Amino acid sequence: MTDTSETHVPEPEGAQPSAARADAGLESASGKALLRFLTCGSVDDGKSTLIGRLLYDTQLIHEDQLSALERDSRRHGTTGEELDLALLVDGLQAEREQGITIDVAYRFFATPRRAFIVADTPGHEQYTRNMATGASNCQAAVILVDARKGVLTQTRRHSYICALLGIKHVVLAVNKIDLAEFSAARFHQIVADYLGFAAALKFTSITSIPLSARYGDNVVHRSRRIGWYEGPTLIEQLETLDVGEGLDDKPLRFPVQWVNRPNADFRGFSGTVASGVVRPGDPVVVAVSGRESKVQRIVTADGDLPEARAGDAVTLTLADEVDIARGDVLAHAQARPEVVDQFAAQVLWMVEEPMLPGRSYLLRIGTCYVPARVTSLKHKIDVNTLEHIAAKTLGLNEIGFCNLVTASPVALDAYEENRATGAFVLIDRFTHATVGAGMISFGLRRATNIHRQALLIDKSARVRLNGHRPAVLWFTGLSGSGKSTIANIVERELHAQGAHTYMLDGDNVRHGLNRDLGFTDADRVENIRRVGEVARLFVDAGVIVLCSFISPFRAERNMVRELVDAGEFIEIFVDTPLDECRRRDPKGLYARALEGKIRNFTGIDSPYEPPENPELVLVPSPLGAEEEARRVLEQLKVRRIIV
Ligand code: ADX
Repeated sequence: MTDTSETHVPEPEGAQPSAARADAGLESASGKALLRFLTCGSVDDGKSTLIGRLLYDTQLIHEDQLSALERDSRRHGTTGEELDLALLVDGLQAEREQGITIDVAYRFFATPRRAFIVADTPGHEQYTRNMATGASNCQAAVILVDARKGVLTQTRRHSYICALLGIKHVVLAVNKIDLAEFSAARFHQIVADYLGFAAALKFTSITSIPLSARYGDNVVHRSRRIGWYEGPTLIEQLETLDVGEGLDDKPLRFPVQWVNRPNADFRGFSGTVASGVVRPGDPVVVAVSGRESKVQRIVTADGDLPEARAGDAVTLTLADEVDIARGDVLAHAQARPEVVDQFAAQVLWMVEEPMLPGRSYLLRIGTCYVPARVTSLKHKIDVNTLEHIAAKTLGLNEIGFCNLVTASPVALDAYEENRATGAFVLIDRFTHATVGAGMISFGLRRATNIHRQALLIDKSARVRLNGHRPAVLWFTGLSGSGKSTIANIVERELHAQGAHTYMLDGDNVRHGLNRDLGFTDADRVENIRRVGEVARLFVDAGVIVLCSFISPFRAERNMVRELVDAGEFIEIFVDTPLDECRRRDPKGLYARALEGKIRNFTGIDSPYEPPENPELVLVPSPLGAEEEARRVLEQLKVRRIIV
C-alpha cells in the first residue's frame, strides 16, 4: 500500500491530518483493501450530510460523538429536531457557524468488505485549491448533484480537476431525489446531461445513483422509494469498485529528501519511495547526472529492510561514493525518468494574482526545487464546454495548457505514467505561497540537441581590453520620474571617460525588439525578460549597459539580477513621487491616462512595486539630473566598475 505523506499538491495551511497517517492504522486494523475517495459538489449539494450518512449507517459513530451531535444539532442544525448529519463532518467551528465547508477533511470508516478514507472537499469556487489537494491521492470521486439543480459549472469544474488529477472512477450521486419526487425522468435527464459532458474526460467508470443523503435512501440501505432504480447503492459501488493501479507496480522513483551523514563512516540518502520497489543489490542511477551505483542497505530506525516499496520512508546506502544531493531522483537504470528542462503541462492556477508567462516561479517536483517559467500558455480550458480558449494569463481556478522551462534539467515522468513524479507545484518566490498545481503531459526535447559552443574569447578577456568592468545599470521608477534623462547623462560621462556603454531604453526598445508588446502585466513581464537577456549579452560583451524601464514588478527586476554575476547588477530606484511625475508629465501621458484614454498606466490603474534593496535610491535633487547622474557615477567608482 502506498503512503502518501508526500502528496503531489501540498496541503493548505490548517488542513486536517493527512490521509496518509491514518492509512497505516486503518489497514492494519482491518486488513482490508483500502479505498480513498473524495466527495465534491456545490455548496448546498449535501456532501457533508452524505458523509455523515455513510459514517452513521455504517455504524462507526461512537456514543460520545452521537451525544455531541445531538447537542450541536439543536444549536446550529438546519434540520429542525432531527440529527443534522452534516455537523458530524463539518468539524471546524468556523464552518459550522458559516454553514459551509471550508477545508479538506479526511474521514475514516469501514464495512465488512472494505475500509475507506473520504476526503471532504469544499464546494466554494475559491476553494478549488483544496479540492485539488483532496483529490490528489484519491482513487475515486463521488460527485454530488442536487436533483433539483442538475449539472452545474461547479460539477463540470470538479469533474475536470478529478480527471486532471488522474482519478479514473466517478460516482455521480444525484442527491435530494426526494425533493424531486423520486422522479426517474429527472434522474435520467441529469445522467444524460452529465455523460454528454464527461465523455471527453475519459473516466474508466461513471456510475450514477439516485439517492437521498438526508434520509439515507440508496446510501447504505437500498431505498424502497426509488423502486425503479436497479443499480448498486453508493456503498455497494464503493465496496466493489476495482481500482487496481498501484504505485508499487510503477518503475522505481526515489526522490532524495536529504543526505544523511552522521559521521565519516556512514553516508545514506533519506526519502520516501515515490513509486516502485527497491532491494539491496539493485543497480541504480542518479537520474540527472546518470551516475551509477548499487543499493547496499535499506536502513530504517527499526533495522534494515529486505525491500522498500512506494510510501516507505527509508535511508538507502550505495556501494560507491556517488555525488548525490537533495532533490536528486534514484531510479533503476533500465527504467529511468525523463530528464528535461522543458515540458508541457496542465496548470491549475490557485490564487487571485494571475499567472504571468515569463515570470520566474519556484517549481517543486518531488523533493527538488528549481526556478521555472511558463514560456507559453497554449490555451486555457473552458470547464463548461472543454473548449480551448486563447489566453495570455491564467486567473484564479483557471486551467491552462502550458510549456514550462526550468533553470536546470529535472527528472520527471508524464503524470499519466506516474502520479508521484508527474505532478509539481509552482511557488511564489516572494510570498512562498503555492500558486499553481501542475500535471506533466510530456517532456519537450527542444534544447537537447543544442549545446553551448565553447568560445575562445570570454568575458574576462574582453574586460582586460576595455579597462573597466561590465555592469547593468538598471533604472527603475514611474514614467516621467527622470530615468532616461539621468541615464543619458551617465552614459555621456562614461563615454567621455572611454568606457564602452550601451543604452536600452523602454520607449526605444518598444519600437523594435518589443514592438509586439503592450502594457498588460503579462506583456511587461515579457518586456523585461527580453531586455534582461539582451542586457546579459552586453555584460558578456564587457559593456556597461544602461537600462531605463519602468519595470514595475520586483519579480522581473530580480530575474534580471540573477541573470548576471554578483555585483554586476546595480538597481537604481529613481524615486520621484507620483504627484511630481504627474506634474511634469513630459509626454502628456498622465493627462491622457487620467482621461481614461490610456489603460493600464503605471501609477494610475497599474501597480508599481518599489525595490526593497536597491543599490541606489535617487530622490529629485534641487540641483537637477546632473547631480543625480553624479551620484550614479560615484557608485560605479565605489563598486569598482570604473576607476
Ligand atoms: S515597462 O513597464 O514594461 O517597464 P517601459 O519602461 O518599457 O514599461 O515603457 C514605459 C514607457 O511607455 C513610458 O515611459 C511611457 O512613455 C510609455 N507608455 C505608454 N503607455 C504606457 C502605460 N500604459 N504605462 C506605462 N507606460 C506607458
